[in-house]
Amino acid sequence: MVKPVYIEDVGKHTGEEIAIRGWVYNLRSSGKIKFLIARDGTGIIQCVVARQDSEQAFEEFDRLTQETSVIVEGVAREEKRAPGGYELNVSRLEVVSVADSYPITPKEHGVDFLLNHRHLWLRSSRQHAVLRIRAEVMKACRDYLDGLGFIEVDSPMFTPSACEGTTDLFETTYFDSTVYLSQSGQLYNEAAAMAFGRVYCLGPTFRAEKSKTRRHLTEFWMLEPEMAYADLGTVLEVSEGLVTHVVERVLEKRARELEVLERDVSLLERVKPPFGKITYGEAVEWLKARNFDVEWGRDLGAEEETVLSESFEKPTFITNYPAKAKSFYMEPVPGDENTVLCADLIAPEGVGEIVGGSARISDLALLEKRIAEHGLPKESFEWYLDLRRYGSVPHAGFGLGIERTVAWICGIKHIREAIPFPRMIYRVYP
Ligand code: 4AD
Ligand code: MG
Repeated sequence: MVKPVYIEDVGKHTGEEIAIRGWVYNLRSSGKIKFLIARDGTGIIQCVVARQDSEQAFEEFDRLTQETSVIVEGVAREEKRAPGGYELNVSRLEVVSVADSYPITPKEHGVDFLLNHRHLWLRSSRQHAVLRIRAEVMKACRDYLDGLGFIEVDSPMFTPSACEGTTDLFETTYFDSTVYLSQSGQLYNEAAAMAFGRVYCLGPTFRAEKSKTRRHLTEFWMLEPEMAYADLGTVLEVSEGLVTHVVERVLEKRARELEVLERDVSLLERVKPPFGKITYGEAVEWLKARNFDVEWGRDLGAEEETVLSESFEKPTFITNYPAKAKSFYMEPVPGDENTVLCADLIAPEGVGEIVGGSARISDLALLEKRIAEHGLPKESFEWYLDLRRYGSVPHAGFGLGIERTVAWICGIKHIREAIPFPRMIYRVYP
């Protein structure tokens, strides 16, 4: 049995006889020599099939089609000109399963066609690169927070109450009652922060977004840190450190993937503290000066966020939004009941908001008042109010959208490519 090796490890095995187990990525033939480019999920390698090396492989080659699964044996050597930098001189070729005519070809396909074939599209080099970066982003998030001493505490997906407003809740039947799919793990994180000090959850969240935009999914992943004895300043500090770390990590570990995506990495290399910081009021003035019809009091629209974002060189915090534009749990700015201690982090290049965070109300009476003002059912928040009854402390946290962060780092326009199987208003297949 020849030793199976992953393509990314071939460099450690030059001169040895190894086996690559993968799929046909590309085929080329020049009569006497045939070339098979194989992929195995970790990379690609050029396999050279010559009759004098293996009669068997030379014959078998003719059965190959794109995406046929194969085991290729041979001696590996360095070859600077080959894609991936190594080459295999094939001594044996085993066809595992011949692939039918593969629907995704190098020609241009429409995005609907590709999304309908998402289960196969994942194998394409660009999609593959995006999802490797996604995995790195999630790992970097965990590593950063673990390094600071945070504990990962998971939050539930079935919930009795709304965290981020009632307009985009997904309802589902739960035996004899109705529950909602989680919009955010925040409320549970607050309970966990009172138990563990500094916590985070990382998981899927659900919003019945009726908007068909390049920034919205109905199922997206969010990283949510929450900290006891913390304020808005802590949110700015931790999120700035986190985003910086994530970008640095991708630049360091996923340079090859960024190259596949033709990402201008100089724009990512700029992502260093201190990030920009303006207030909501300043953002409104800035927009008004550019003839945007914005009035103080409402949340920034998609187009407004885009132009602001395009004007930033670095990620920039927008702080102190009007209370009525934001969620019920945000702590008011001292001396100004109409604004809240919150921050959205706007990524540059037109990407827009990637993080939303705030200081949370710690006073029981004020929280009860806000729940009533938002028309939320108090009964289902009793447990949440308990957190203010039993040792309430100032606390704060934020949520970072994984797909928006990945799309920004990858330089892709639409976040549907930043998740393996996107869910949007008109898409739940495959
Ligand atoms: O600003 P949001 O709504 O904040 C919260 O849910 C807080 N409870 C988080 C917290 O403080 N623990 O959402 C946070 C982030 C946004 O900045 C954005 O990156 C992402 O989640 N996001 C979405 N991503 C994709 N599709 C959607 N429909 C999204 N909605 C929010
Ligand atoms: Mg937000």
